[in-house]
Amino acid sequence: MKKIILAANWKLNKSPGETRSFFKAFLSSYKNSSDVEVVFFPPATSLEATSQSVQDSKVKFGAQNIYFESQGAFTGENSAKVVKELKGDYALIGHSERRQYFSESNSLLGKKIQHALQVQLIPMFCIGETLAEREGGKTEAVLQTQIHEALGAVGVPLNTLVVAYEPVWAIGTGKIATAEQIKETHSFIHKTLKLKNLDAVPILYGGSVKASNAAELIQIPNVSGFLVGGASLESSSFLDLIANSIH
Ligand code: PGA
Repeated sequence: MKKIILAANWKLNKSPGETRSFFKAFLSSYKNSSDVEVVFFPPATSLEATSQSVQDSKVKFGAQNIYFESQGAFTGENSAKVVKELKGDYALIGHSERRQYFSESNSLLGKKIQHALQVQLIPMFCIGETLAEREGGKTEAVLQTQIHEALGAVGVPLNTLVVAYEPVWAIGTGKIATAEQIKETHSFIHKTLKLKNLDAVPILYGGSVKASNAAELIQIPNVSGFLVGGASLESSSFLDLIANSIH
């Protein structure tokens, strides 16, 4: 069986206290498996609580966003080096909410990916099309541009990259892409990455993944795991999702 990555994107949810309560419940039931890597992306203000909560487990974590410098006059930004110091392993880069609400461009995301790699965080690079782009037949062109512009701006070897494909119209909407759409799109992303000698890069799917659809979606070729928002906020629903993804 393939090793899968199941990542929880908490967005702007969970205080440090709520984070500690979540992990108390989660870790009392979670059974580590060598077939799966579980990664949490708490808000920056709960990174330290996450770090302390998971320190004796195999569970990984990272930041939802980093800046491309780790220190200096950059008010309000997150330092990748601090994430590393807290023993985080990942940085989520280019989530569609960052692109949409904070105007993050592909070239900026390329700089963030480069910085993550320089401080030895694994970049989890998010790509995805809007509904208008899908309906306009532009999905492949959009994904290709996101990949080329961001990864083309990276000047260091991309040896630990993860890509997360999240159709923007499927995020938080309950609308799930069909198995056929996911299969086609993941195959396209895999081919695009292969042209850059990145065919070993895991490609996660995200957008309204939950315990009830995980077992079906994980079977799709080139789907190496999930990036999960809503269904990761309760430990019981995320535990069910994990169980259904590995069986
Ligand atoms: P969702 O969010 O699972 O709530 O659709 C996924 C994401 O935004 O990463």
